[in-house]
Amino acid sequence: MYTGKILESMKRLEATRGERLHQEIPLLSPDDRQSLLEGFHPDYKEAIFRTLKVGPSKGERTPKEFADVFEAYSAIDPAKFDLSSVDLDVDVLVVGGGGAGAAAALVAQEHGANVLLVTKLRLGDSNTVMAQGGIQGADKENDSPAIHYLDVMGGGRYFNDPKLVEALVSDAPDVLAWLERLGVMFDKEPDGTMTTIHGGGTSRMRMHAARDYTGGEMMKTLRDEVLNHDVPIMEFAAAYELLTDGKKVTGAVLYNMETEEYLIVRAKTVILATGGGGRLHVSGFPTTNHYGATADGLVLGYRVGAPLTFMDTIQYHPTGAAFPEQILGQLVTEKVRSIGGQITNVDGNRFIYELETRDVEAAAVIRECLGKKKGVETPSGQPAVWLDTPIIEVLHGAGTIKKRLPAMFRQYERFGIDMSEVPILIYPTQHYQNGGLKIDAHCETKVKNLYASGEAAGGVHGRNRLMGNSLLDVIVFGRRAGAAAAERAAGIKRAGKLSLDHLSKFHKELKSARVGKGRISPMLLPEYRRPEAAKKKINALA
Ligand code: FUM
Repeated sequence: MYTGKILESMKRLEATRGERLHQEIPLLSPDDRQSLLEGFHPDYKEAIFRTLKVGPSKGERTPKEFADVFEAYSAIDPAKFDLSSVDLDVDVLVVGGGGAGAAAALVAQEHGANVLLVTKLRLGDSNTVMAQGGIQGADKENDSPAIHYLDVMGGGRYFNDPKLVEALVSDAPDVLAWLERLGVMFDKEPDGTMTTIHGGGTSRMRMHAARDYTGGEMMKTLRDEVLNHDVPIMEFAAAYELLTDGKKVTGAVLYNMETEEYLIVRAKTVILATGGGGRLHVSGFPTTNHYGATADGLVLGYRVGAPLTFMDTIQYHPTGAAFPEQILGQLVTEKVRSIGGQITNVDGNRFIYELETRDVEAAAVIRECLGKKKGVETPSGQPAVWLDTPIIEVLHGAGTIKKRLPAMFRQYERFGIDMSEVPILIYPTQHYQNGGLKIDAHCETKVKNLYASGEAAGGVHGRNRLMGNSLLDVIVFGRRAGAAAAERAAGIKRAGKLSLDHLSKFHKELKSARVGKGRISPMLLPEYRRPEAAKKKINALA
């Protein structure tokens, strides 16, 4: 498993474990944090950004990979596309089958709306199902939504939209109760109270979890709920473009990924719950994200005129797997650090407090490897630092890892690494997009009747999200979007005319900005084949 220089470094780490056991590392001062971020966080590297040349957020900075999908043509030619026959007519169209989409669909239906949930993969295939560490919510006596609010604002460097943060933290206790009522099995103490722990940047222990597969537990429950309530769903159906009557959204064009047919849906309101864009691999980073995270909802909303916000800030999770190569970039939950895992350099020395906020923690790891050259190099040349996991067993007793981090344990066991006996190697990985479509507290975008929730929306987390506020975000804003979209739909007799005029306009804008016709979005699925191989497939289809 570990050999050569890596093994020698691991021995040094083992030698320092005793003295590190009760070593206290203070939080950085605000000035030190800022200079660390400016020096080493990718958000501060000008070269990775581009200024948007077209659309409602023209002039704003966004990572080049995101700019490439925003500044791209549709595969649909609006002049030729036939919109004369409507295949489906609904009140609320929910696009996305993850936590936000499922919550939105359930609540919209509960409000009496005729709902259709469409997803380009299968119901539940999403980042929600992959979430590990937990969900925040102030439901303990020593905590309150007001304290939670301050933590969220502090984590976001005080750039967050206060109205959205207020919604997030105020709904949180009820969201936890709702999830429990639906059947989510959160970890409990012997007296029946919720087990809660810290995450980076939290002043209270308010992270609720189901071991280290919290998102899986939540998504399984939500999925069952959607199926049990007979919410109409269509799988392998990607939203390809939105439709408008010139002023408001009136439906969508779907693309059936199996039959390759288009379907026209007329809808009084549309909710984009499509998640983020981890699979765009900003600056070449690997990602924790699921296969469908290609920012499609953002592209669709942007083309129809909905501005973006905070698109110049991406979250790199400090602890992505760096070895073995087969799991490069996969999530090693923050919970490992919450329960005592320590980060050390090649010499077995700690260099940062493990529960700094993620932006700071990630920057510290990058500095240690690239700046101070104190990292460990894996056989494939990947820089890394150690996450000392056996120390958890020393702190809490043998068997703790298997019991509290069973998914993590299995992730490494498959490759012959027993993380309760040996440390693991980690490096930051693209995890989350702090920005997205700009929404109000009812999740409406700047385009009438178009809503967005979950990672597709931006503003609530400011410039950096705290652990556990994403699982919370998808449910809080999924439910809010479902309720608001259903209420709006109830007041609309019939959706207006269906047109793609906005697309013709957008294409014109692209042409005047001299954007070449080669770029097509939404991407739907990432392309990992070599360009020659990908081209061959396209030629074969033609
Ligand atoms: O580290 C984690 O378990 C991730 C949680 C999150 O992004 O909220």
